[in-house]
Amino acid sequence: MNKKGIILAGGAGTRLDPLTRIACKQLLPIYDKPMIYYPLSTLMLGGIREILIISTPKDLPAFRDLLGDGSRLGIRLEYIEQPAPEGIAQAFLLAEDFLAGSGATLILGDNIFYGKLDFFRSALAMEKGACVFGYHVRDPERFGVVEFNASRRVISIEEKPKLPKSNFAVPGLYVYDESVVARVKQQKPSARGELEITDLNNAYLRDGALEVRLLGRGIAWLDTGTPASLLEAGNYIATIEHQQNLKVACIEEVAFNRGFINEAEFELVISATRSPDYRRYLEGVLTEWRQQPR
Ligand code: DAU
Repeated sequence: MNKKGIILAGGAGTRLDPLTRIACKQLLPIYDKPMIYYPLSTLMLGGIREILIISTPKDLPAFRDLLGDGSRLGIRLEYIEQPAPEGIAQAFLLAEDFLAGSGATLILGDNIFYGKLDFFRSALAMEKGACVFGYHVRDPERFGVVEFNASRRVISIEEKPKLPKSNFAVPGLYVYDESVVARVKQQKPSARGELEITDLNNAYLRDGALEVRLLGRGIAWLDTGTPASLLEAGNYIATIEHQQNLKVACIEEVAFNRGFINEAEFELVISATRSPDYRRYLEGVLTEWRQQPR
């Protein structure tokens, strides 16, 4: 089933103040790119080409300035404001017209994945229901947490439990069928006044329509919630890029490799790239591609 993508990139960014006074969290640098490049490239690598970016009225223009309508990358980007941070699941109400009855995948603009994304692609291929993931972490109480019964079946997801029932956190990458908007419409705000993503997932679970796939060691899910974790994420990306001489989340490279843009369009992207290092990298991608036997 065709699914459209949503990147939720709002919120107050309080924990990163004063950094978030100069730019919102999802535009802060992760080594050599703005944070949003990472979730955007995740969606693109999943084959998603229609993407809605949701942010605050104050910050949305900066995303639009940065990414435009997406045509240079062979994708379609739309933008919509979230007037107040009233919950992650509210994204689907804001996205109703954009989705126009199709299924959806939502990624939080501060979630960074690195590794083979087959787990995501196979979830996108599901016809019905929803799919979320479980990732083993040290500090599950900061996240949505998966609860299993004795036979390892998932029986609930708890949002930031004081006493987590497992070490499996639910990352901010979710895949839903076309019933998602109707389900959120039935939801009530939580005690903290938010439409909770965890309530949505539990609604699918109650209907026997939620798959929770546990991610193994081959995937890195990086935290960016504090100044220290922001720096660590940047260092992690820098180490990989330096070692391999390959960029992570280079959206222009992804667009070309996935066939979203052709050779001539990629050349135009390269010539418009201002940083000499970034441009040289893209030129290298094109040269290697030309040398491949076809
Ligand atoms: O990162 C994964 C976790 O994300 C999940 O395990 C949790 O179940 C989920 O609730 C969420 O937890 P957070 O503590 O990270 O939620 P937070 O309220 O900080 O929001 C996550 C991001 O979404 C953040 O960058 C701000 C943005 N956001 C959040 C809300 C509530 C919005 O843009 N609008 C909103 O209304």
